[in-house]
Amino acid sequence: MPSSHQYLLNDQGLGCQVEINGDSRRIIPCGYHRDRAENVIMKLDSASRANTGNQLERIIDPKPCFVELARRLDKQGAPPAGGWYLVAEQREWLVAQLKNAISETNSREIRILEAGIASHNHHYSFLDLVAQALEGATRKPKIHVTIVDRCEYPIAISKTIHDELITEPNVRSSLPRMEDSSTELFLSFVISRRNAGQYTSIEQSFVVGDLRDPKSIGLEANSFDIITEHFISSVIANLDLLESFRRAYADLLRPGGLLLTAYGATLPLKEVEFQEVQDMHKRLRFVPGKFEYVWDPYGLQEDHLDPLLEEDPVSVTVISDNSVQPFRLAE
Ligand SMILES: C[S@@+](CC[C@H](N)C(=O)[O-])C[C@H]1O[C@@H](n2cnc3c(N)ncnc32)[C@H](O)[C@@H]1O
Repeated sequence: MPSSHQYLLNDQGLGCQVEINGDSRRIIPCGYHRDRAENVIMKLDSASRANTGNQLERIIDPKPCFVELARRLDKQGAPPAGGWYLVAEQREWLVAQLKNAISETNSREIRILEAGIASHNHHYSFLDLVAQALEGATRKPKIHVTIVDRCEYPIAISKTIHDELITEPNVRSSLPRMEDSSTELFLSFVISRRNAGQYTSIEQSFVVGDLRDPKSIGLEANSFDIITEHFISSVIANLDLLESFRRAYADLLRPGGLLLTAYGATLPLKEVEFQEVQDMHKRLRFVPGKFEYVWDPYGLQEDHLDPLLEEDPVSVTVISDNSVQPFRLAE
C-alpha cells in the first residue's frame, strides 16, 4: 500500500551525529536532513476550489508547476522543500499574519523564533516571506530571527550561507562548501543582489538543541514576539509530546505574543480530536485564532499525483486536511 511522502521521509530517521576526531569535527547528517538539504525551492500556484459539496476538496490542474511537483515527488528530480513557501495558500497566510503583526507593533524590534527548519532551503525561503511581510507592513521595525533545530546539519549549513552573505553580499549564486560535511549541498535558488540584501538585513541567530528545553540552549523566557512552527507535528508522536513544545513556547513568548502554526494531518496526531488540541492550547493560556484548512503535498499518498504525469495529464483532487492557525498568548 502506498505511504504518504511525509511518512517515507520520516522513515529515513532523524538525528544528525557529530564525529570528533582530535581537532576535527565532522557533521554526519541523518537521512532526513541529508534528503532535505538536497531539496529545491519551488513555488506552486493556488489550487482551485472543487465544484462539489465538499468544501475541503481542491483541484490540482496540470499546470507546469503542478506537473513539476508530481515529477519531483515521483523521484524524477530533487524533491521540493516542503516549507511555508511551497504551497500558495500556506505562503500567503504566513505573509498576511506576519504583515499584520509587524504593522501593529509599537516596538523597534520584532523577535521571531523559527521552530525546526528541516534545511537551509526551508530557512532561506522562510526569510524571503519575512522580507515580503516587512516590505508590505506599515511599520519597519528591525527583525531578528532565531532558528532552532535539534539537528546540527541544517543549522550549520544555514549559518555557513549567512556568514558568506555577510562577507560577500553580492554573491549571485552560492554553493558554500562545508568542509566538515560529508555531502555536497546546494542552494537551489539564485541569490540575487536584492535577496542577499534582504537576508543580511534580517539579523539571525543559529541554535542547535531541543526546543522543549529552551533554558538548556540559552533561550530566555519572554524573549520572542512571534514563534512560527511548520509541520513539526508531522514528526512527533502524540499529544503529550505536542504539549511539551507548547509549554516551552508559552514560556518563550512575551505575553500577547503570537504562535503561528501549520499542523500536518499525517498520522498519528491525525487521530487526536481537534477539540483536544484546542483545549490543550487554552490550558496553556493560548487564545486560538481562526483555524483554516490547507492542502499539503507531503500529506498525500505517494501515487496520488500520478495522473499529472500521464502523456495527457489530467487534474487530480486533493483534500485540504492540513491546517494553519494562529494562537495569541494571553496578556
Ligand atoms: C517537519 S520538519 C520542519 C518542517 C519544515 N518546515 C518542512 O516544511 O519540512 C521538523 C524539524 O523539526 C526538528 N525538530 C523535531 N523535534 C525537535 C525538537 N524537539 N527540538 C528542535 N527541533 C526539532 C527536526 O529536526 C526537523 O528539522
